[in-house]
Amino acid sequence: MKTTSDFLKMKKTNEPIVMLTAYDFPSAKLAEAAGVDMILVGDSLGMVVLGYDSTIPVTVEDMIHHTKAVRRGAMNTFIVTDMPFMSYHLSREEALRNAQRIMQQSGAHAVKVEGAGEVIEVIRALTEAGVPVVAHLGLTPQSVGVLGGYKVQAKDAESARKLLQDAKWCEEAGAVALVLECVPKQIAAEITKQLTIPTIGIGAGNEVDGQVLVYHDVLGYGVERVPKFVKKYANIEETMQHALTSYVTEVKLRQFPEREHMFTMKEEEWIALYG
Ligand code: KIV
Ligand code: NA
Repeated sequence: MKTTSDFLKMKKTNEPIVMLTAYDFPSAKLAEAAGVDMILVGDSLGMVVLGYDSTIPVTVEDMIHHTKAVRRGAMNTFIVTDMPFMSYHLSREEALRNAQRIMQQSGAHAVKVEGAGEVIEVIRALTEAGVPVVAHLGLTPQSVGVLGGYKVQAKDAESARKLLQDAKWCEEAGAVALVLECVPKQIAAEITKQLTIPTIGIGAGNEVDGQVLVYHDVLGYGVERVPKFVKKYANIEETMQHALTSYVTEVKLRQFPEREHMFTMKEEEWIALYG
């Protein structure tokens, strides 16, 4: 299994880091078999698996429940679990306690938190407690209400300067990596140059140290529209829908099950029973 020091080394040697989300046993198994360097149990769980319209309703319990399944599916991959909405804001103690629960109960190797400001001290406190922290800046979906929608961030000089400063603070506070979401490629490239820790981009261009995408987006599974930064590598939903529709049709038409799917008794046993 790769560790945080391997990710630092990969940045130094310019080897791209591949991160993918996973939420359960089969998705984790496929992610590991594909050779991803790290798995993110993202709170995107709320949208792509649980059917909420944002990440806000996701709880620590949800994250633990799903991370446990991911861990069983990917025993040899570094797993990062999102700390969900408001689970690290009420107090330093509560942030530490929630991170403790995630680390001890789920088998995650690191946690991810969104934002800077007060969150910088959370990153520092968790790091001091021995919890590897991945920071997340740019479009931070837990703040969708404050940001006013899912939009590209740091488009002007002033907000780009703030983003760079926040990134440096995340690193200084001890973050082991930084996810940059939905920002212009130029500022992502500059942050990548100025930081020692690896940057993992999603909608952040190609001059970052790694990429992360959502499992369901990559596969074209259960998502109606995908953002511009996504590449759909398959349309697995079409295949799945076709299979399920065929099953329904064949049962209705009594075409399934066929002989090969049935169990039979020996003829003499049947005769002994009903003569
Ligand atoms: O929850 C998630 O899937 C994420 C990634 C998109 C970075 O935070
Ligand atoms: Na997330």
